Amino acid sequence: MSEEAVRLAGIEKSFGSAKILNDISLTFMTGEVHALIGENGAGKSSLGKIVGGYYSFDAGTLTVFGKPVGQWTPRAALTSGIAMIHQELQLVPELTVAQNVFLGMEANRAGVLSGGEHERFRALDQRCGFGLDPGRIVADLRIAERQKVEILRAIARDARVIIMDEPTSSLTADEAERLHHVIRWLRDDGRTVIYVTHFLDHVLATADRVTIMRDGRIVRTGGIAGETKESLIEAMLGEPADVAFPPLPPPPPIETKPLLEVIGLSSDTGLSDISIDVRPGEIVGLIGLVGSGRSELARAIFGADPSRGTVRIAGADYANRTPRNSVAHGLAFVPEDRRKQGLDLVQAVRPNMSLPHLGLVSRLGVLRPGEERRRTAEMIRHFNIVPGQIDGEVAYYSGGNQQKVLLSKWVYGAPKVVILDEPSRGVDIGARRRIHDFVVELARGGAAVILISSELEEVISLSHRGYLMREGRIIECVDCRTLGVEDALFRLFNVQRGAEAGPRTEVRS
Ligand SMILES: Nc1ncnc2c1ncn2[C@@H]1O[C@H](COP(=O)(O)OP(=O)(O)OP(=O)(O)O)[C@@H](O)[C@H]1O
Ligand SMILES: [Mg+2]
Repeated sequence: MSEEAVRLAGIEKSFGSAKILNDISLTFMTGEVHALIGENGAGKSSLGKIVGGYYSFDAGTLTVFGKPVGQWTPRAALTSGIAMIHQELQLVPELTVAQNVFLGMEANRAGVLSGGEHERFRALDQRCGFGLDPGRIVADLRIAERQKVEILRAIARDARVIIMDEPTSSLTADEAERLHHVIRWLRDDGRTVIYVTHFLDHVLATADRVTIMRDGRIVRTGGIAGETKESLIEAMLGEPADVAFPPLPPPPPIETKPLLEVIGLSSDTGLSDISIDVRPGEIVGLIGLVGSGRSELARAIFGADPSRGTVRIAGADYANRTPRNSVAHGLAFVPEDRRKQGLDLVQAVRPNMSLPHLGLVSRLGVLRPGEERRRTAEMIRHFNIVPGQIDGEVAYYSGGNQQKVLLSKWVYGAPKVVILDEPSRGVDIGARRRIHDFVVELARGGAAVILISSELEEVISLSHRGYLMREGRIIECVDCRTLGVEDALFRLFNVQRGAEAGPRTEVRS
C-alpha cells in the first residue's frame, strides 16, 4: 500500500531578496520514483535540500511520515529516514571508499572498518553492481566512481526516502541502467526515490510520477503515462524547444595546414602513440567509451598531465606543456569535472572568469576593471547565466549555471585551440543548444575545436571529423558527416555487423 512519505504545503524560500521557491505544495508517496525536472536554476536542488534538511524554509509546512517537522537538519532528516545524494558530490577525498560510505555511522566512529562493515560493503556494492574497491582513496577516483560512492552512502543509511540530485550525470549508459535497476528495487521495496535529472529518457523510463518546475514554481505534477519528451520540454521551458543540432560550417579545405598537431603522444595515464591533427575552423570529436583515453588525451595536450611526444601549434613545437603555458599559447580546456578542476567556489563570477586571462584585461600589468566587467557581462549574456550579476558568488549558483560560468572562464580569451570535455553535462535543454551554437561559432571564427562527449549523437552531430579511441590508442579516423551512431558503436566495440553478440551499449546515446 502506498502512503504519504513527505508532504510539502505552501513552502516558500528566499535568499536575500531573491525568491527561489514559491508556494510549493507537493506530496511524495512511498513506493514511487518521483522525477523532478526543470531548467537550470528552476529550484530542483533547493527543493531537494529543504526535504533533506540542508536548507531551512521561510513559510509553509513540511510533513514527514505524518509528522510535521520542527528543527530540521540533515541529521534530523536522516533520523527520519531521508538521505540526499548531492549534485556536487560531498565526499571526503582523503578517506577510502568504504570509509566514505559508512562515514558518520555508529560503528565507524574511529575511522576503522569492522569486519562486519566489510561484509556490508560487499553486499551493498553487489546489490548495485558497481564493483567498487572499498580500500581506494576517494581522491584517486574518477568522477563517475565518486558518484557511485555517494549513491552507496545513501543506500547504506537504509533511508526510506532518497533524494538523488543528478546521480547519472557522469555515468555511462550501462552504469545509468544499473542505477535504474537499483532505483526500481528501492521503489519495489516500498521506498521513495526523488529523482532530479536532465535526462528526459531516464525520466520516461524510470519515473512513476513527474513534477515539472519553472522559476521556483511547480508547473504540474502527474503520472508519467501520457508524457513524452516533447510534452516535458514544453512544460519546462514554457514553449516548444528546438532540440535539433545546429548545422556545421563547411570543413576547411583539405590543404589547410593544421593548427594543432599531436605526434606520437604517450603518457603514464595510459595514452600510447597518439597522433591527431585539427585544422582551423574544424571540429574534431574524440569518440570512445569511458576509459578509452579521451579525457586523458585532452589533459595531456593541455599539459594538465605530463606526456611524451610532440605537440605543435600553428607549426611551432610546443614542448614545455603546462596549463599556464597552454593558455599563453592560445589553448583553452574545459575539463569534465568542474568541481575539482574548474571553479573557485568562494569567489564571484568575475574573478572566476578572468583569472586565467589577466593579461587580456590588464594594461602594463594593471587590471582594467572596466574591461574585466565588460567581458564578464558579455559572457553572462552569451550563455544566459542566472543570476546575471558579475559579482554573484559562484557557490550559490545552481549546478547548471556553475557549468556555464566554467565554460565562459575557458573561452573568455578568444582561444585558438579549444578542447571541450563534456561541455553540455548537467545543463538544461536550452543551455545545451546555446553551448552547441557556441561550439559551431568557435569553428566559424577559425578556432580548432576538439570535442569530447559520452553522448555519441552529440559528438558525431557536432564534429566534422572524429578519432575513434580504444584503450588509449587511436583506432580510426572517421568522417562524422557520414558516420551513424550505430556504426560508431559497432566499431568501438570491434564487433562485425550482423555478428551473433550484439554490442553492449556502454555509451550514452
Ligand atoms: N545558498 C544559496 N544562496 C543564494 N542563492 C541560492 C542558494 N542556493 C540556490 N540559490 C539560487 O536558487 C536558484 C535555484 O537554484 P537550484 O540549485 O535549486 O536550481 P536547480 O533547479 O537545481 O538548477 P540546476 O539544473 O542548474 O542544478 C538559483 O537561482 C540559485 O542561484
Ligand atoms: Mg541543481
